[in-house]
Amino acid sequence: MLQNNSDPVLIKKPHQQLRLNAYQEAEFLKCAINPLYFIDNYIYIRHGTKGRVPFKLFDYQKDLVLTYWKNRQVIAMCSRQLGKTETAASFMLWFATFQKDVNILIAANNFRAATEIMDRIKFSYEELPDWIKAGVVTYNVQKIVFDNGSKIESATTTPSTGRGKSISLLYLDEMAFVKPRIAEEFWSAISPTLATGGKCIITSTPNSDEDTFAQIWYASNRTLDEFGNELPDGLGVNGFKAFVAKWNQHPDRDEEWAKKERAKIGYEKFEREYELRFLTADSTLIDSQTLAGLVATEPLFKTSHIRWWEKPQANNIYLVSLDPSAGVGLDSAAIQVWRLPDMVQVAEWMHNRSDIAAQLKMVVQITSFIEREMRSHPAQISEPEIFWTFENNSYGQAVIELLNEAGWDVVPAQLLSEPNQTGSRFRKGLNTNGRTKNQAVTKLKSLVEGNRLQIKSKPLISELKNYVTKGGSFAAKSGEHDDLVSALLMIVRMSQLIARWDDNTASQIRNNDLVEVDDLVEPLPIAVSIW
Ligand SMILES: Nc1ncnc2c1ncn2[C@@H]1O[C@H](COP(=O)(O)OP(=O)(O)OP(=O)(O)O)[C@@H](O)[C@H]1O
Ligand SMILES: [Mg+2]
Repeated sequence: MLQNNSDPVLIKKPHQQLRLNAYQEAEFLKCAINPLYFIDNYIYIRHGTKGRVPFKLFDYQKDLVLTYWKNRQVIAMCSRQLGKTETAASFMLWFATFQKDVNILIAANNFRAATEIMDRIKFSYEELPDWIKAGVVTYNVQKIVFDNGSKIESATTTPSTGRGKSISLLYLDEMAFVKPRIAEEFWSAISPTLATGGKCIITSTPNSDEDTFAQIWYASNRTLDEFGNELPDGLGVNGFKAFVAKWNQHPDRDEEWAKKERAKIGYEKFEREYELRFLTADSTLIDSQTLAGLVATEPLFKTSHIRWWEKPQANNIYLVSLDPSAGVGLDSAAIQVWRLPDMVQVAEWMHNRSDIAAQLKMVVQITSFIEREMRSHPAQISEPEIFWTFENNSYGQAVIELLNEAGWDVVPAQLLSEPNQTGSRFRKGLNTNGRTKNQAVTKLKSLVEGNRLQIKSKPLISELKNYVTKGGSFAAKSGEHDDLVSALLMIVRMSQLIARWDDNTASQIRNNDLVEVDDLVEPLPIAVSIW
């Protein structure tokens, strides 16, 4: 029995056998195999001021449709009023029209929004030619059931929305604006359902950097495996593909428009709604403008998951630092390799499941390679200058014990240790405590902001973007890691030690480091963060 609250002429009765002519048959097929073709040629939308218009996709909308089509799970962060809901609505209509027996669930932040998305789908459906339309069995405010067995339902997001249903496509609009506790409960209840193979599309402008949307967003932007290498297809560690579109991807918006809009709604609102910055309570160590300018470089070559950006060169000083970890899958061990006096990142390694012996093996492999290359270089004048160190707190004790057994000379480099230690208190390696960390952090900030470090690594840059004030010091924001930054802080300390006798290094790091800096210079707090 057809339940209908709309103009009966516009919806098609179920199970009608229409005879398609050759043209229509060819068109139907083209639409079935390509959502872009379907939307561009057959979808009409209701424009705010112009009324009924054909939906001619903006370039970014074409990319977005392709991304929805090619990926099982997509999270799209888009500026306000960019056309994200319209794009998702047309994609869902395509999905339901040309696939049999699919269940689509739309969950929006409130009832009005959920109903509005259904209205858009209905408007576009009603405008389709009869020979493309699927017949309709149910057609009401919250539900459309087609005669091909496909169904589109809309609901407000609550902890129990969609529970127990089998879902082929879940669409969450404005997820960042669902109340945090509800979003969290909803997501943990629905995730197992999606894990069985359903598609998921999430669209939103950002809100708090701690909510469920932010967590899914950050995880989908972590596109590196445990060694720091790219995961296939650019997917994040949670299997989601991240998609981003800002205000300037709308063809009618330019700097002039942005200026007016910024003046109208205020700087902070513009930053969040159009520049896509999360609201955050955290301040990053490095200022956001510098962070935005850090660009990663592809490694030149890789050996045993070590990323190298250049081959060792003659007559430079090399620094190798190890921040050890337990190797049980939690924090990663990290190694940084830098070249002085220019302060260039040369290589990097990280892994969260290598034990201390394996971590030391990497140090031996790296230092041996640098030593071999430098010695065999015709321009090398004297003994290669390679220095190494490790953090001797906690897991560092295991490093000391292993090397006491194996012999410290298995590492063909000079070990740098904490200066000013005396007698029986002497302990190899560098120690991190509140004072030494704050000094290194302050120096790192000034070196990065002064553009005096040549950082190459993508994972290191992303750790720096998430390195924030925490309890009076700095650390990764919750859910993120800072192992590469910790190893970099040791490189900073090593270069400060070397600057005591090497004038070139001293001038590169503009050395006033002989004077100990006791106070941490706190960066100015900022209200927004770059994701
Ligand atoms: N390609 C397009 N051509 C013409 N009009 C478009 C296009 N895409 C979207 N629109 C229109 O722009 C307006 C905003 O679109 P939509 O509601 O999908 O944006 P949104 O990003 O979801 O906005 P909001 O942030 O308010 O949720 C709507 O009136 C829509 O019909
Ligand atoms: Mg919208």
